[in-house]
Amino acid sequence: VAEPYLDGLRLPETMHRPEPEDWKLALEVSEWAMERLTDRRSTFPPRRWPDQLPPIQAEGVGAVAAWDILRDDVLSTALPSDHPRYLAFVPGAPTVAGVLADMAVSAAGIYAGSALEGGAVVVAERAALRWLADLAGLPDTAHGTFVSGGSTANLSALVAARHAVKARTGRQPSTILVGAGAHSSISAAADVMGCSVVFAGDIDGRFDGTALRTALAGVDRDDIVAVAATGGTTNTGAIDDLASLADVCREHQLWLHADAAYGGAALLSERCRHRFAGIEQVDSLTIDPHKWLFTPFDCAAVIYRDAAVARRAHAQRAPYLDAVNGDEEDNPADYATHLSRRARGIPLWMSLVANGTDAYTQAVDACLDLAEYAADRIEAGEQFELACPPSLSVVVFRRRGWVRADYERWSAAARRSGLGLVTPTSVSGAPALRFCFVNPATTIMDIDLLLDSLSRHR
Ligand SMILES: Cc1ncc(COP(=O)(O)O)c(C=O)c1O
Repeated sequence: VAEPYLDGLRLPETMHRPEPEDWKLALEVSEWAMERLTDRRSTFPPRRWPDQLPPIQAEGVGAVAAWDILRDDVLSTALPSDHPRYLAFVPGAPTVAGVLADMAVSAAGIYAGSALEGGAVVVAERAALRWLADLAGLPDTAHGTFVSGGSTANLSALVAARHAVKARTGRQPSTILVGAGAHSSISAAADVMGCSVVFAGDIDGRFDGTALRTALAGVDRDDIVAVAATGGTTNTGAIDDLASLADVCREHQLWLHADAAYGGAALLSERCRHRFAGIEQVDSLTIDPHKWLFTPFDCAAVIYRDAAVARRAHAQRAPYLDAVNGDEEDNPADYATHLSRRARGIPLWMSLVANGTDAYTQAVDACLDLAEYAADRIEAGEQFELACPPSLSVVVFRRRGWVRADYERWSAAARRSGLGLVTPTSVSGAPALRFCFVNPATTIMDIDLLLDSLSRHR
């Protein structure tokens, strides 16, 4: 083969072209991946951290040695969020097809910001977004993109809302009206945008049209960026009254955003769907497939009722981008505060195609069953009480008589012993523990183990 490079100029091709040992290593990494997905229980608790990782230096150690270190000293120390007794925060439990697609996306070298480069990758992501938009009952004009997380999705939606209001009033609005139980990312987005937040309603309750009307009384309507509601709060799973909020927003021409990052998956369940009534009227929506839709991190959807409005807010213009910015182009980069992006919707798309949506409904229902079982056991046990009514797959509860330090001690002991990850929170100003079920591989035995340990703990 002719040497393709100019005299004296050699690419470090051993870094970019697989050598025979890399082919062997690829099989080893794949086997490791499949073993890990087969047994997601034994990877908890993490091993001790190494005192020192190898230095990054001029001479490399080779991929085989680097993989050994990555596998044994780095990956093994993380708390895997798909362990069946990882019930803290909002865990994730990716499907096998989703993980395989994610691995392939890395190897395919895809820039998924533009239709020109992404090809049918953009079409497949669009199909996954359409499925999510249909779940919420949004019209044909609805579209968006996948971003890294619910935080970026919320920020992108609020930026689009601000742009739309400014286009209508000629003035840059600066106030975001938020239900008191909203996720912290809404306030963080307001900070980034230089906006202020007005909280409405009660932190442990549902934000509704009446609370919104009260909050509106003190605010200049043209200064409002958006009303941000939540479809499944992180702390308690509460779902805001989206229908009454939509009524008030329509009356006052306000942009309604629903953050259903965690709870949106429950739209799949006949048991929960009705609780989201009004979601079909929102102007923008966040749903995170990396939470309760079994997709590897990181994958969050931001969807706009009228995608053209979002494009006007987000599309970046530069001479070097003219090649991809045709008027008719549907560029995923144009719907959020990003430009370069991973094709992070592809794992969701492949998993939906592979498993079918019925499997998703069943898996979501299985998590709801787990939450019901946990709530029943808690109510039946004399030592325990529910801290608030369970909602979606979140169960917040107390051990009677415990103070925050007791919860913290038990939580740390459970983590260190490998029992699981369950962390304290607070509801109505008092400490509590919180289970969040998004992993259909969790069993009632897992719940029993955790509650039995809590009962015994002194
Ligand atoms: C309701 C809600 N919104 C937003 C977020 C933030 O999502 P992310 O961590 O993906 O940025 C979360 C995270 O738990 C959430 O539960």
